[in-house]
Amino acid sequence: MVDQKEQWGSRIGLILAVAGNAVGLGNFLRFPVQAASNGGGAFMIPYFIAFLLLGIPLMWVEWSIGRHGGKYGYGSAPGMFDVLWNNSIAKYLGVIGLLISMVILIYYTYIESWTLGYGIFSMVGLYHGADSLEEMSGFLSSYQGLQDGEHFTSVWPAYGLMLFTFVVNFFVLWKGLSAGIEKLAKVAMPMLFIFAVILLIRVFTLGTPDPSVPENSVINGLAYIWNPNFDELSKASVWIAAAGQIFFTLSVGMGTIHAYASYLRPKDDIALSGLTTAATNKFVEVVLGGSIAIPVAVAFFGLDMTKEIASGGAFNLGFVSMPVIFGKIPLGQLFGAMWFFLLFVAGITSSVAMGQPVVAFFKNQFGMSHRRAVLSLATIVIICVQPVVFFLGHGFLDEMDYWSGTFGLVIFATVEIILFAWVFKIDRAWEELNRGADIRIPIFFKYVIKYVTPLYLLIIMGVWLYQDAIDILLLNKTSGGNPVDPADVPYIWGARALMVGLFLLLSLFVHYAWKRKRRLGITSFRE
Ligand code: PHE
Repeated sequence: MVDQKEQWGSRIGLILAVAGNAVGLGNFLRFPVQAASNGGGAFMIPYFIAFLLLGIPLMWVEWSIGRHGGKYGYGSAPGMFDVLWNNSIAKYLGVIGLLISMVILIYYTYIESWTLGYGIFSMVGLYHGADSLEEMSGFLSSYQGLQDGEHFTSVWPAYGLMLFTFVVNFFVLWKGLSAGIEKLAKVAMPMLFIFAVILLIRVFTLGTPDPSVPENSVINGLAYIWNPNFDELSKASVWIAAAGQIFFTLSVGMGTIHAYASYLRPKDDIALSGLTTAATNKFVEVVLGGSIAIPVAVAFFGLDMTKEIASGGAFNLGFVSMPVIFGKIPLGQLFGAMWFFLLFVAGITSSVAMGQPVVAFFKNQFGMSHRRAVLSLATIVIICVQPVVFFLGHGFLDEMDYWSGTFGLVIFATVEIILFAWVFKIDRAWEELNRGADIRIPIFFKYVIKYVTPLYLLIIMGVWLYQDAIDILLLNKTSGGNPVDPADVPYIWGARALMVGLFLLLSLFVHYAWKRKRRLGITSFRE
């Protein structure tokens, strides 16, 4: 275990914490947008295949790497990779894991704060009256400080809520693993579930809001997602989008699952726990997440419009179309507040997870006190979040999201699975995964982990490089696929410089941590 003093309080607490890590804005905002803009029923097939061949295997791999690394006292990827591969490069590969968690934490906190803001606005009825999509998008842009509006003329209200969200996140991290993260998950997860079920019932009882247009109904919205459609399966982009969603939603390829698993004892089960958390996340995503935003949008705006809204970006469905609908239904203020608080609760159990590996890294490898580690991370985050807030309109956040939240995790996942299945070797890896297991994992997965998942990842990476990444890197298009506005170029480079800077900083930390380790003659961080 990483630290004798830090441990999960109970198994259910651990499972709720990892489920809380995975269940986030990805389930309720990103999933509906991806499904709606990639052909609905056509998306679901590659999506389930990716769940089986990428999601579940990677979840197991990360729990295994995490518990194994924890035995040597490591709570984050650099040390964990170091014990898998006795090579001085290994720890620097692990830096990618720290970097991704940190970068996502930086912009995710800001988006999370919008959900809190909108929860409050729903309650007080602030956006009621903006009853068309255009007006509501205007409301969103004015809140984000991109234009003046009726209610907002600067970004400061959003900034204040960002600060508040930041403080709440670091308060939870400050309280620690069991008294902070685990306790939060135990309250937040049931609450999230109750809110989601209430919203679901509300959506299902909406029927056909405008009887003169019978095709605009909740049923047709559900049919769009659930009727399999084999026509679009030949499109590479749909497969890639499906894989990307699986990664993001399960929080694999980021370095956070490892951190949570490192606090287990060497013989605690990981096979069943890993599967349970993956399945919980999937349930919340397709059953709860999939039954709210899309069906309700189809019922009010029709299918074509819903697809158009979704293709307009990750936030349009959640922050524009949903509030318009809340303005139209009875008790809309209440349901609106519920929707946005649901998002906030889902978000916070994810963002604290992104902080945990970095805090563990500072503590274990620099011998910092818990408080100091939390404050050090907080300082880095609060500095880096500034350009995210102020340069939002110039694509700063999108650029960070593309390289860390979309591309980076595929790289990290590829590295970790190759290290685990090929360098550490599959027989040892399989034994590690099955030690203490409460279920028997079908042997089929041994081959999946060794061959199928790595190959799948390499193909995705290849296609991505070819189709997107190089063009985006060379500024031939934005991460959203649009032409680059020359005015945004310096900001895009700024976002890249920030990420490269953080990578170098973390690499330097790793360099010094290992130097310190050698100097002190530490072979293991176990106490
Ligand atoms: N899985 C989370 C979601 O669905 C996002 C997340 C990313 C969580 C990175 C932890 C680490 O929103």
